Amino acid sequence: MSPVRLTPAQARALNDDYLARMRQCVPWSPAVAWAPKLNFIGDTYEVLELFAGVVASDAPVHLLEPGQFVDSPNRRFRYCVRLHRAGQPLLTWWGAEVGTVIFDSDVIIPALYQVKEIDDGGPPWNEAPWMSLTPGEIMTLRPGTRQSKGKVIIAGLGLGHQLIEVSKRLQVKRIVVVEIDQELVDWILPVIRPHVRKPLEVIVGDAFEVIPKLTGDIALVDTFPGYGDGFRVVEQLAKRSPGIKRFWGWGTSEMTGLRQRER
Ligand SMILES: C[S@@+](CC[C@H](N)C(=O)[O-])C[C@H]1O[C@@H](n2cnc3c(N)ncnc32)[C@H](O)[C@@H]1O
Repeated sequence: MSPVRLTPAQARALNDDYLARMRQCVPWSPAVAWAPKLNFIGDTYEVLELFAGVVASDAPVHLLEPGQFVDSPNRRFRYCVRLHRAGQPLLTWWGAEVGTVIFDSDVIIPALYQVKEIDDGGPPWNEAPWMSLTPGEIMTLRPGTRQSKGKVIIAGLGLGHQLIEVSKRLQVKRIVVVEIDQELVDWILPVIRPHVRKPLEVIVGDAFEVIPKLTGDIALVDTFPGYGDGFRVVEQLAKRSPGIKRFWGWGTSEMTGLRQRER
């Protein structure tokens, strides 16, 4: 697809729109409702840095310097802290809708990348991170977190963001994480664990094989690279999992259009 060519007037209008948005910034809150255009004060954007002291950078992930990343022992995973520049839009999604978030100053966004399974001659890391603590990720994981109670199954560890948020809920009694990658668990779980406030069991395995054998009040499934990818897959998994009362998948509750109020 060729890039869209803007006329000077269109480019000016776009620039003016971003400048106006930067003047309308409000404090960030993890509970903020989704809207197509969100504008936040960068200084209020606080995120958990799992590995202390990693220097934020906006360089490509494969060009980061020592001190700007932490790799897992066999270099299958890279944790780094992206430096996101003031005024640059970040995408957000809500069901079929797409929006943007901007900040009025630079912010940091911790992220987790996995090495490509097949060497394609390009940079070794997958282009899209498994997880990054963007407003978009935080807002779209929230509907699942808010439904969690009792015994909660979480499929997909990532940066442990949803695990930590679920563990803060009074209604949650215990958590079982199902994660496919042993190296990720061995490497990152010890730094996530101190933030988890509930009894925790971790099962290393394919969630789509493990979950049907489990019991629980709810399963939160976020094993997907793309938002809403799991719509049908989660539906089928629920049918094969009689021991689990309720299912939620990343993006799937918004896709139904039934849960718009949970923004
Ligand atoms: C999008 S990330 C999860 C991010 C997580 N929700 C968070 O809050 O940080 C997806 C995770 O699922 C794992 N995964 C992928 N496929 C899986 C599968 N079939 N079964 C279990 N885990 C899987 C990946 O290794 C990765 O850790």
